[in-house]
Amino acid sequence: MKKLCIQGGTRLEGDVIISGAKNAAVAILPATLLVDGVVRIENLPDIDDVTILNEAIQTLGAVTKFVDRHTVEIDASTVYEYQATDAYIGKLRASYYLFGALVGRLGKAEVAMPGGCDFGGRPIDQHIKGFKALGAKVEIVDNIIKIHADKLIGTRIYLDVVSVGATINIMLAAVLASGITTIENAAKEPHIVDVANFLNKMGAKIIGAGTDVIRIKGVERLNGGHYSTVPDQIEAGTFMIAAAATAGDVCVKNIIPEHMDSLSSKLREMDVQILEGDDYIRVIAPEKLKATHVKTLPYPGFPTDLQPQMLVLLMIAQGVSTLVESVFENRFQYITEFHDVGANIQVEGNKAIVEGVEILHGTHLTATDLRAGAAMIIVGLRAEGETVIDNVRYIDRGYEDIEHKLTALGAKIYRI
Ligand code: UD1
Repeated sequence: MKKLCIQGGTRLEGDVIISGAKNAAVAILPATLLVDGVVRIENLPDIDDVTILNEAIQTLGAVTKFVDRHTVEIDASTVYEYQATDAYIGKLRASYYLFGALVGRLGKAEVAMPGGCDFGGRPIDQHIKGFKALGAKVEIVDNIIKIHADKLIGTRIYLDVVSVGATINIMLAAVLASGITTIENAAKEPHIVDVANFLNKMGAKIIGAGTDVIRIKGVERLNGGHYSTVPDQIEAGTFMIAAAATAGDVCVKNIIPEHMDSLSSKLREMDVQILEGDDYIRVIAPEKLKATHVKTLPYPGFPTDLQPQMLVLLMIAQGVSTLVESVFENRFQYITEFHDVGANIQVEGNKAIVEGVEILHGTHLTATDLRAGAAMIIVGLRAEGETVIDNVRYIDRGYEDIEHKLTALGAKIYRI
């Protein structure tokens, strides 16, 4: 089993280039199934989730070819298969995008129930509500979701919860439907805009992505073309927090600074200097950080996917901070892993009350999910002595070359 070892206490300094966004890539790859032609996608992150989805769309009949590490050409004009029921597909959260793409293209889909990181119940009722509203029949048999539609017809769909996955999935199912689909109370994350931009570039007619009302006018077919994936907001945020945790001076490059506004504001409140350029943010952090209060919310609020990393900063900030998780019902399980690092955290329901400490201690940690794993790396960078992190496979699902990027910033981190 792969492990990461980190010798803590080094200040991070230098430049880091951010990869393409995981959560955009894992939606755009299934979205290519809707396209009747050759698609070239650039700036894909080289991460395990992309590898798995690439395999999944190949088994559905798409012909895919990596031109280089970050560029793939996909010809889905021959897609005929509608079953993606292998266990490996179900392990991935983003496998749910195969529902929307397959039912949109072929009128039918049979896909393993999506897995992914365990944050308590992660229902998909809003996805199903959307497919049914468009005219599909949906049943769940032996952990396989089966969707069938003779014809998808555009309609108004109000989401009862703001859901990234449901918003994108309904968009995928609606682009080739007849008539106009309106998604109300849609999620607004940057990767939703990115998926809409991708589909529009291939000939779809989507307006309003990035607002809470999205309108999709169905078209007959999508044609091929080129697209470059948006930079990864969460990878950028992870490096910004890592810089702040090590009193570092790091320029996070190839990003869209506005996507980082909620984090930049919180870091400023903690006395971190944030200098923004057109496509970079430089983070200059002091030795001592000030406590603050953070609540996760759908975009443009503070992202739940930066919650564990942010907790590490609060663990070392002077004073008492609070961190409220309001997106997922149970995204604090990983905190028990921090017992031996010397942090002072009390969890009351969905709120963590954190009293900052001067020193964290290196210890043995087990990554419980992707972003908790990233938070453990930040603990290791800051802590005295050696930190060993198990279950690195979680981290590899979503971060490209994480130890190399950190090594280039001066970190002492290696894989065994
Ligand atoms: C996506 C991201 C994940 C991120 C999350 C929130 C991907 C592959 N994953 O996950 O990294 O943490 O957005 O930004 O892009 N909900 C329902 N019913 C539904 C759907 C969701 O009740 O049908 C609830 C969820 O339980 C959760 C909230 O809505 O409490 C938000 O979930 P959602 O935005 O759908 O997250 P995911 O798409 O699973």
